[in-house]
Amino acid sequence: MHRVKITDTSLRDAHQSLWATRMTTEDMLPILEHIDNIGYHSIEVWGGATFDVCIRYLNEDPWERLRTIRKEIKSTNLQMLLRGQSLVGYTHYPDDVVEKFIYKAAENGIDIFRVFDALNDIRNLETSLQTIKKTGKHAQACVVYTISPVHSIEHFVNTALSLKDMGADSICIKDMAGLLSPYVAYELVALLKEKVKLPIQLHTHYIGGLAIAALLKATEAGVDIIDTATVPMAFGSSQPPVETIVRALQDTEHDTGLKLHELFEVASHFEKIRKHKGFERGVTRITDMKVFEHQVPGGMISNLFSQLEEQNASHRMEEVLQEIPYVRADMGYPPLVTPTSQIIGIQAVLNVLMGERYKMCPGEVKDYVRGFYGKPPMPINPEIKSLIIGDEEVIETRPADLIAPGWEKGKKEIGDMAKSEEDILTYILFPQVALKYFAYRDEMGADEIAPILTTEIENTNINEKKPIKEKIIPTAKKRSNQKGDEEMNFAEIKELMMLLNSTDIGEIELEKEDFRLSLRKTNAEGDNKNKSNRTVTSKVTANEDDLEVNENIEEVVSPMVGTFYAAPSPDAPPFVKVGDQVDRGQTLCIVEAMKLMNEIKAENAGVVVDILVDNAEPVEYGQPIFLIEKE
Ligand code: CO
Repeated sequence: MHRVKITDTSLRDAHQSLWATRMTTEDMLPILEHIDNIGYHSIEVWGGATFDVCIRYLNEDPWERLRTIRKEIKSTNLQMLLRGQSLVGYTHYPDDVVEKFIYKAAENGIDIFRVFDALNDIRNLETSLQTIKKTGKHAQACVVYTISPVHSIEHFVNTALSLKDMGADSICIKDMAGLLSPYVAYELVALLKEKVKLPIQLHTHYIGGLAIAALLKATEAGVDIIDTATVPMAFGSSQPPVETIVRALQDTEHDTGLKLHELFEVASHFEKIRKHKGFERGVTRITDMKVFEHQVPGGMISNLFSQLEEQNASHRMEEVLQEIPYVRADMGYPPLVTPTSQIIGIQAVLNVLMGERYKMCPGEVKDYVRGFYGKPPMPINPEIKSLIIGDEEVIETRPADLIAPGWEKGKKEIGDMAKSEEDILTYILFPQVALKYFAYRDEMGADEIAPILTTEIENTNINEKKPIKEKIIPTAKKRSNQKGDEEMNFAEIKELMMLLNSTDIGEIELEKEDFRLSLRKTNAEGDNKNKSNRTVTSKVTANEDDLEVNENIEEVVSPMVGTFYAAPSPDAPPFVKVGDQVDRGQTLCIVEAMKLMNEIKAENAGVVVDILVDNAEPVEYGQPIFLIEKE
């Protein structure tokens, strides 16, 4: 008998794929003990985007989440997804930070580390694999699956063999786009079993519908462990449902041994959460199904969608999807997975929005071309390379060899604001977001942080709107202008809408008329009476009133929706101050958009007469950020 073991992804990949990673620890808590008793091989609960989203959007401490889960899940292995040298971020970190992070993750409860590199550049896995081995935990190394002229079955098997030499305890085939067809799965698993002689796990995504068949063929070929999710979070861009797989293998030599009625209890819990918060089911649209043509993973499609939506360009999705294969070929066929999916995706978006290829390239794209993410599977198109970085040299070494140690520096920078070594890591990984989160945490007091949405709203019926309003408004920053109107910007309003929309209580409408935004909340019956009416004025209005017309003054506007940063890092001096003389092409600030740092440069030489946005504040497309008096 060859029982297939199952990893449950519901608490990480599944909600990352379908619910924009928005499941809170409170959503999980009531069902954790039950999940522990299912008999899973492991439960993926941490890593990937969950860390970032916890501090950025949920006001949760990701380390605290891990400890809470560990307390409830006593017997099943806890698993995390680690992006090799990028840990749970989007850029390479120094070796000492990678080591510290892994030790802390192990200490807080991780048993199995699944580690991958987007380029299958095994040098980027050296430090993490070595460190995981030192902690005594299980090191599972990934072969990232994709289709391209270089990605043959032999390429994957050779990568797996090298990973075994580096100490991997098991190998995972990571098919993030759901491209692995059943017969290729059979061939690949059979060959890996024969040549590599380590436990083999298959991680795939449902999207085009190949996944269930791929898991079954992989099972026939001898796969040891497969990944599935509970049915309310399965299908679409997520994993296939565990219930289907359990049933399909029932009473065969591969029987999983899991009990359907117990799985349905878990499913009922998450279905309740799904309905309560208004999250979508996993579905496959035509654009998604076209993954067979464009190879873009489901998670990346929804990212692209929201990025385009932010830039008011969601109608250009089809063009972006057509552009992606060109950019990917130019860039040497990287598999599309974090962070290469963002790098290729954003470049495709910019190519489409700018109407010209590579006219604007964010720092991350340049760094990719310089070799700072590792070696692309094939050489980068030389013409495009010189267009992007000119005659700069490309590095040949392991990228992290060039990164100075970061732990002591980060520790010193954050000082007292860090309450633990975990806090220091959070800061080193996401400096700007961590500062905001720590400040929020201090302001709110530890007890009040988590239950912004859950417990309070759970017991609120639709006629009692007050508790929600009181609970939520303080989390969105308000300012007052001279007229005494409350001011919120679009990003804050959007955040508020998201919070309110994720309850069953009613609907939010947002109107934009002549720079005035009115925010209106109606109850579930759509009754407008007794609505809590709030009229807010965007910051743009106030600035416009104040402006005198001066022909010589040039407005530098934000080319995209994002977050304004006056300096390259929190401790660095600002790029420019009021009164500074700037040259044409000089960097004025950074606008972080779509998770990338975009340097905004002066189009003309002149003197900075005003900076219209505060550091770390959201900016809109076309919003004036600098006033420069031209020479
Ligand atoms: Co995945």
